[in-house]
Amino acid sequence: MNTQAIRFLLNGEPVEVTGVAPTTSLLNWLRVHQRLTGTKEGCAEGDCGACTVVVGELEGEDDALRLQTVNACIQFVPALDGKAVFTVEYLRRQTGGGLHPVQQAMVDCHGSQCGFCTPGFVMSLWELYNDCSASGDRPDDNRIRSALAGNLCRCTGYRPILEAGARMFDLPAVGLDGPTLRAQLLALRRRDGLAYAHGENSFHAPRTLADLAALRSRHPEATILAGCTDIGLWVNKQFRELGALIYIGQVAELRQIGEAGGALRIGAGVSLSDAYAALCRHYPELGELWDRFASPPVRNAGTLGGNIANGSPIGDSMPVLIALGSRIVLHSVRGRRTLPLQDFYLDYMKRDLAADEIVEAVEVPLPVPGLQVRSWKVSKRYDSDISAVCGAFALRIEDGRVREPRIAFGGMAATPKRAARTEAALDGRPWDEETLAHALLALELDYAPLTDMRASAGYRRRAAGGLLRRFFLETRPEVSLAAAQTRVFAAFDACTVTP
Ligand SMILES: Cc1cc2nc3c(=O)[nH]c(=O)nc-3n(C[C@H](O)[C@H](O)[C@H](O)COP(=O)(O)OP(=O)(O)OC[C@H]3O[C@@H](n4cnc5c(N)ncnc54)[C@H](O)[C@@H]3O)c2cc1C
Ligand code: FES
Ligand code: FES
Repeated sequence: MNTQAIRFLLNGEPVEVTGVAPTTSLLNWLRVHQRLTGTKEGCAEGDCGACTVVVGELEGEDDALRLQTVNACIQFVPALDGKAVFTVEYLRRQTGGGLHPVQQAMVDCHGSQCGFCTPGFVMSLWELYNDCSASGDRPDDNRIRSALAGNLCRCTGYRPILEAGARMFDLPAVGLDGPTLRAQLLALRRRDGLAYAHGENSFHAPRTLADLAALRSRHPEATILAGCTDIGLWVNKQFRELGALIYIGQVAELRQIGEAGGALRIGAGVSLSDAYAALCRHYPELGELWDRFASPPVRNAGTLGGNIANGSPIGDSMPVLIALGSRIVLHSVRGRRTLPLQDFYLDYMKRDLAADEIVEAVEVPLPVPGLQVRSWKVSKRYDSDISAVCGAFALRIEDGRVREPRIAFGGMAATPKRAARTEAALDGRPWDEETLAHALLALELDYAPLTDMRASAGYRRRAAGGLLRRFFLETRPEVSLAAAQTRVFAAFDACTVTP
């Protein structure tokens, strides 16, 4: 196979890359090949944020420039083709050698001690700074907190860093030259996809769904790559050789969100950030699930399609998508087929996906009047943690009785799975304590969870029952409780950190 060079902007300058394995991480390339050692390696699995960089892309019909944080340790270099990468070294260039307001604010607020985590925090704050400067907003404490949810610091403590996130807007502004960057990115744009090879390994980035399907059909052995937030760990932690990669991130049809036939259609290449934003516009009750799904850099890179296709029993999106009655759309050269999402999961990490198929989209029914929906995850940490249990509940109440209950859990079985006995115990019954008691007994029979490092089987059972009770308390017809009354974190919501 002939190879092309990978082309992108690095700190505003065009670069061409050849001669590296397609699974070379952006972090290693920056540090080893470019000697840009400001970006640090902590965990190499997307958890600590020491490697945070910002990636710029043109998006939408008007090709607007969008900047987002990602974890450089779990991004493969060819996936950056056509994009703009900014590292902490760029900030010095922006100011002609001085400190950028983000850095000055970190100094002023004593936001750094050993400094290992600092470049990562600075890049998360830089993204927030640019975003808010463009819109003229000033972020509140919660927004600053959320922007930093993917950055860990062992020694400074978070308060001074959060204070720096407010202070940076008090300093003389430093703007980003958006029009020049946009013109540079337009000049890099390819008409056809990237085909890159190194030794036995290859990387294809088709630009249309038809090309993607044709490639998939010719290379059923290849690994489909989306946001790389699962696959990056296969390479970094399991040292897996991946051979051929087919990247879906440049396929425009897969990056679309639309509404048709009473459903929200989310393309498989839509990032988790955008997918949850769209879901929460219709189902604001899912805001906490969105906030607690990984961290901003993981949500910016990772896709909803990747979460669904990976088929992990502890993935956070599947329970609520199943409870809402979503359908999955699969695509191949043979055509398209659609099936209920719950039927896609056959057994532990086994999916109803033929070798030549890819996930094209998920279709989520729009809310109907009276529908009550909730989904909560239980994990050891609030931010950026994998669920021990994730429960999702959807039902309508008519004349005080439960109609069409749909309940699904992750972390309770080998696949994300509906609670059939619990649903039967609820259907048509008054939504009261007696029905809840029957439903809790049925829930015991629905699942036989495992004990593992995240939780014991007993804990999982109790947590699942607790979530069902919480759903009851918030949705019962008599004296229903507000979300703030059942939310254990509500006490922290009111805490302010900035003066
Ligand atoms: C630090 C960290 C925190 C995380 N936290 C969470 C969390 O809170 N909740 C959670 O659920 N997950 C979490 N994850 C897991 C991961 O982010 C999600 O599963 C994510 O949605 C994967 O999407 P991706 O686009 O990165 O997939 P990739 O890593 O690119 O691919 C994942 C799998 O899906 C397949 N695939 C991807 N797209 C398609 C497609 N269109 N068609 C067919 N197959 C496809 C790939 O071949 C691969 O098998 C976390 C990961 C990290 C690193
Ligand atoms: S090194 Fe920890 S997130 Fe990348
Ligand atoms: S300053 Fe040392 S880890 Fe954050």
